[in-house]
Amino acid sequence: MIPVSKTNILIKMDIERAVHILKRARYVVVMTGAGVSAESGIPTFRGEGGLWRNYRPEELATPYAFARNPKLVWEWYEWRREIIRRAEPNPAHYAIRDMEDLFENFFLITQNVDDLHRKAGNRKLVEFHGNIFREKCTVCDFRRVHYEKHETLPPLCPQCGNFLRPDVVWFGEPIPHDVLEISERHILRTEVLISVGTSAVVQPAASFISIAKGLGKTVIEVNLTPTPATGLVDISIQGKAGEILPKIVEGLKR
Ligand code: OAD
Repeated sequence: MIPVSKTNILIKMDIERAVHILKRARYVVVMTGAGVSAESGIPTFRGEGGLWRNYRPEELATPYAFARNPKLVWEWYEWRREIIRRAEPNPAHYAIRDMEDLFENFFLITQNVDDLHRKAGNRKLVEFHGNIFREKCTVCDFRRVHYEKHETLPPLCPQCGNFLRPDVVWFGEPIPHDVLEISERHILRTEVLISVGTSAVVQPAASFISIAKGLGKTVIEVNLTPTPATGLVDISIQGKAGEILPKIVEGLKR
């Protein structure tokens, strides 16, 4: 007989508890972070491989960093865009796509800018921090989707000639009003919130966990490691999103 570690048994029990709750739920919101795309080969922000040329994301993803050195900030984004262009959705993304069909009401709030949820087929979603393939002018109202590599950095606005910037939310910038509003609406209405692969430290997304708890919702966390939210949630499932989420979906289909 193969010995089964206690941890594995506990994880299995947590998955069963989650399935039990989700089978009765008619409204489910999933919130994802960089950990969901880690198994697609995209480095997370705070984990191993998250650093780029010794800079932390908080030193690059800011309006101040861009004003000081737009080329450096764009080089970091081109590095990330290149990795993301080659990445494919992993089993975690596909499990979340399946959830969209399994629940009467479903919504996905992703902090990821990488497009992989959409590539996996999710349609009911909001990109809370924007999208790395969208860009906007720093001066005029020009916006576009641009997948290709830029030949020169920073790219210039074809309308007014000023610098373009990635259409993502940087530290110190507010979440666009409509994005915040739709996310809050779903958090208010949902019965269950599943938080997956986020370190739960960046606001305001992290606060959705405590808000949902405060409103009496059931919160399930899936993460490789404990986070500041772990003590708050109802079920904390430790493991890889790409392994745990397909098991939950399998349980839901049983
Ligand atoms: P982080 O890099 O802060 O956290 C990633 C989380 O995923 C960590 O808690 C890891 O333990 C977990 N993790 C890693 N691999 C995993 C796996 N295979 N399965 C499950 N969990 C895994 O990323 P975020 O929480 O998304 O914002 O960061 C939030 C925001 O900070 C980002 O959207 C970005 C960043 O700066 C902006 O750029 C505005």
